[in-house]
Amino acid sequence: METPFYLYDTELLRQTLESVVNESKRYNYKVHYAIKANYDDRLLAIIREYGLGVDCASGNEVQKAIEAGFDPKSIVYAGVGKRDKELRYAIEQEIMAINCESIEELLVLDAMAAEAGRTVEVALRVNPDIDPKTNHCIDTGQADSKFGISYEEILDNAERIRSLKHLRIVGVHLHIGSQIRELHVFENMCQKVNVIVENLERLGFSFRFVDVGGGLGINYDMPENEPIPNFASLFAIVHNHLRVGDREVHFEFGRSIVGECGELITRVLFNKTTATGRKLLIVDASMTELIRPALYGSYHNIENITAETDRTDKYTVVGTACESTDRFDENVSLRRSVRGDLLTIKSAGAYGMSMASRYNLHDLPGAVYGEDLM
Ligand SMILES: Cc1ncc(COP(=O)(O)O)c(C=O)c1O
Repeated sequence: METPFYLYDTELLRQTLESVVNESKRYNYKVHYAIKANYDDRLLAIIREYGLGVDCASGNEVQKAIEAGFDPKSIVYAGVGKRDKELRYAIEQEIMAINCESIEELLVLDAMAAEAGRTVEVALRVNPDIDPKTNHCIDTGQADSKFGISYEEILDNAERIRSLKHLRIVGVHLHIGSQIRELHVFENMCQKVNVIVENLERLGFSFRFVDVGGGLGINYDMPENEPIPNFASLFAIVHNHLRVGDREVHFEFGRSIVGECGELITRVLFNKTTATGRKLLIVDASMTELIRPALYGSYHNIENITAETDRTDKYTVVGTACESTDRFDENVSLRRSVRGDLLTIKSAGAYGMSMASRYNLHDLPGAVYGEDLM
């Protein structure tokens, strides 16, 4: 296989899915897979085997999930800017819920549902105003964020929302951010949700489910120490702090399901040293295969997997794209690396391939699956 390519540990994916399914069963929680994290067909087929639903962020993601065999009734669809054709498609497919993110979207959806002669099930995506203590590039639930409807705006428009004849408001949805490692943040989230749900129900809403989104972080620093994220702890927190009543509780995990099962394999092209003395290791991957370091300053553990020596050197690992931010890591200690060596960039299963681009007309990377190598 030509480098760079993604290598997926399908056995680890299965173990991760077993963990999330077994732990969620204890509380009868429903788990959706956030398909934006990785929409690879082979991975989707495995995820489907474990009975997860899907969380989508575009009409094409909804279509992909349906084509991959997921039951439309297990699909939720959020997104601040759904296009008319995407809303119409979601209505037609009778998915589990369209998670609306503005009052205007609710009005437009109501009119479309009327036109289609349907009643559409909807969740209100509420902005809970919570600091998830993660990289600010990937927090989504603070007051000033573009995501969700502010609680105040829902209160101000409660009557109007309830009067929409072609929408059935069946759920509350929120997602406070991604790569959350400080799990106490989820306690705050539950406390906020309790207040929001109880106050809205006092105003006459009646919710069948609460969807608390995804966000569980993975261990990018030392993936070997924690290949499977701690679903049990998160579920226990939600169990202890969310006043559920007889409502269903839904989760939408992306990164925690596929993040650790993928790595990006890349080959060293050249070594050079800058005038300032920085040793550059130029590899054949770039931000076009894995944009997270360039986009968010994210860290991925890198290792030379073919070096013939145990002596190490400090390198700045850069990619081939025509951008200065196209850098995988700075000052990283690697076994001494020469042209032709293979490096692995770990924990790249989520938001890697799904964010790949063809900038500089690069080819999209291929994929290799562990189960094919047995
Ligand atoms: C609405 C929603 N749900 C779920 C997710 C998945 O988050 P994570 O990959 O952190 O689990 C995201 C990620 O952006 C999201 O926006």
